[in-house]
Amino acid sequence: TATAAGDATAVAHPNIALIKYWGKRDERLVLPWTDSLSMTLDVFPTTTRVRLDPAAGQDTVTLDGVPLEGEPRRRVVAFLDLVRERAGRPARAVVETGNTVPTGAGLASSASGFAALAAAASAAYGLGLDATGLSRLARRGSGSASRSVFGGFAIWHAGQPDHGADPDLGSYAEPVPVPVDELDPALVVAVVDAGPKAVSSREAMRRTVDTSPLYRPWAASSQADLADMREALRRADLDAVGEVAERNALGMHATMLAARPAVRYLSAATVTVLDAVLELRRSGVSAWATMDAGPNVKVLCRRAEADRVAGVVREAVRSGSVHIAGPGPAARLLDADA
Ligand code: PMV
Repeated sequence: TATAAGDATAVAHPNIALIKYWGKRDERLVLPWTDSLSMTLDVFPTTTRVRLDPAAGQDTVTLDGVPLEGEPRRRVVAFLDLVRERAGRPARAVVETGNTVPTGAGLASSASGFAALAAAASAAYGLGLDATGLSRLARRGSGSASRSVFGGFAIWHAGQPDHGADPDLGSYAEPVPVPVDELDPALVVAVVDAGPKAVSSREAMRRTVDTSPLYRPWAASSQADLADMREALRRADLDAVGEVAERNALGMHATMLAARPAVRYLSAATVTVLDAVLELRRSGVSAWATMDAGPNVKVLCRRAEADRVAGVVREAVRSGSVHIAGPGPAARLLDADA
């Protein structure tokens, strides 16, 4: 790619997990307890430009033109420190990020954000990573970002707890071949509450792993869910994909509800959408729900039925917003003169 030395721009899309990542076995390296599997979306890309500025004393980080502060800025600077250490180049950088995700849409903007940052920063600092290396690097920014390096469907390997001398190497995402035209999947995203979450996913995961009596059973069942999911994707069996995705997500939320103190992301509006999804299924429409670290609901259905599903969901949430997404592309660098 025609990227000028020390200056690179990358685009990445969010992903939604059908088999969830929930719980780290190593916080510093961001190594999960379980494998996860997701679909990268074709909506809401993040674009990030990283420019080295050797004369600067510190990094400049902006999001949609506004300087980042506090914890969000600290995370980006810590990520750049990791890239600098690997590149052996101490130069500070100017990082400009543009998000198209509706604010607080609960659409894993950290996944598209750190995938785009990893791609742009590794190019600007000349790390020369392949896609696997890029996925490992993105993982360090946000676990789910490891999957947004790839388009379509991707599996993120937890890696073996005893993976040789360097456990970092064993945990990365890779594409899962899926007959996408046959499956014809869409995710109807119901934004029921765009407010910030009360508990960060980092804190919620920690609490769940440390205190929930349901965590270990869920982690074990998630491994079985993954095998069923891979088989269902291979067969392009949308109903089986949806059934497994929904039970895996509900199980993840059960682990949080059993944490001490409980973490409850699901709201009354969430349950209203879940009822609408059940009603759709009763009327013969394939529709299955999944929720992440927030009250918003993503409904898996056939692309051909997505408008009808979106209409029913819109009617159910009223005050929220509803978006339709399909499978999206891998993270990529933009040409310098594009
Ligand atoms: O990568 P994080 O810290 O944003 O964790 C996201 C975890 C879930 O969205 C709840 C599940 C997943 O696998 O994306």
